[in-house]
Amino acid sequence: MLNSFLGKRVLITGGAGFIGSHLAEYLLQRGAQVTLVDDLSTGSMDNITHLLSRQGVRWVPGSVSDRRLVAELVSQTDLVFHLAAAVGVALIAKQPIQTIERNVEPTQFLLAELARHHQLGRTIPVFIASTSEVYGKNPKPFWCEEDDLVYGSTSKARWSYGVSKAIDEFLALGHFRASRLPAVVGRFFNVVGPRQTGAYGMVLPRFVQAAVRGEPLLVHDDGQQIRCFSHVADVIDAICQLMLTESAAGRVFNVGADRPVSILELAQMVVSRTGNKSAIQFQTYQAAYDDDFEDIRRRVPDLSRLKSVIRYTPKFDLEDIIDDVVRWSLPVSF
Ligand SMILES: NC(=O)c1ccc[n+]([C@@H]2O[C@H](COP(=O)([O-])OP(=O)(O)OC[C@H]3O[C@@H](n4cnc5c(N)ncnc54)[C@H](O)[C@@H]3O)[C@@H](O)[C@H]2O)c1
Repeated sequence: MLNSFLGKRVLITGGAGFIGSHLAEYLLQRGAQVTLVDDLSTGSMDNITHLLSRQGVRWVPGSVSDRRLVAELVSQTDLVFHLAAAVGVALIAKQPIQTIERNVEPTQFLLAELARHHQLGRTIPVFIASTSEVYGKNPKPFWCEEDDLVYGSTSKARWSYGVSKAIDEFLALGHFRASRLPAVVGRFFNVVGPRQTGAYGMVLPRFVQAAVRGEPLLVHDDGQQIRCFSHVADVIDAICQLMLTESAAGRVFNVGADRPVSILELAQMVVSRTGNKSAIQFQTYQAAYDDDFEDIRRRVPDLSRLKSVIRYTPKFDLEDIIDDVVRWSLPVSF
């Protein structure tokens, strides 16, 4: 089935980002031609330089808030993966305005442009990257796609990310309902792997960087926050299958792993697997972010819906994932 990408022209927004660059590699291996558009706000040329000389790769520096550019790129594509967004809790907590601007209007315009082509008889399926943050602080132990979205106050800027991604979901589902535009939404749960930067607050690269340098690992609050980490390769396989599954269109899917681990346990695993003697230190949210920061205690997906439409067989468990990130941070000696 995944041969269906052969010869397809695929547009990846956020193509110089962590997930976008891995997705580009995956699609190129399957014979697709990829166009990567990115404004390098959180992405990096380091993620894609190795791809630029490959046949079938087109690099377009630019912003998806540039409507003319988006219209031009859409007119030359067969499939779209929309990954461009403001990401990273540390960044979002500081920049709620940019978060909303980056996450809502470009998606709105992209979907409208795709709907226009669809109505003219040229159908271009689209994947919209959403996030587990849309559930907010729903207290349920496992989150299903039909669960309520439970946000904190607007005085707490971090909710701007989940709310803005929820609007993207409403737009995607609305276009499917209005015109059957084949849009699929994936809610990612802590996707990790090589190339992910810790600069915007992502926890695993922060821990690994500290451990390989022999510096203390800073665990926020009491470290009892529960998360599930999935390898980027497993996530990409899942979203590519979703894009090729007709019954996935017009639906939202949790995408990730469902093995819960506390952040303190994660820190301990990183220290033990690197073999370094880094200390684990606790840091208040106030010191890490600001007075207004509010966190989510537990974030675990129910993957039943995903497994009901695709063959979801993740290849990496958490130990493999940590080893892979460590290897990438220490290319020679690990
Ligand atoms: N990594 C995760 O755990 C995770 C979890 C939930 C959701 N997501 C979603 O997955 C997608 C990819 O995230 P990622 O982890 O690869 O982060 P990333 O920061 O590496 O990728 C996002 C990319 O989008 C680019 N970008 C941002 N605004 C842009 C704009 N206006 N025009 C063009 N490019 C722009 C950035 O420069 C970056 O390269 C995002 O939509 C994010 O919300 C990721």
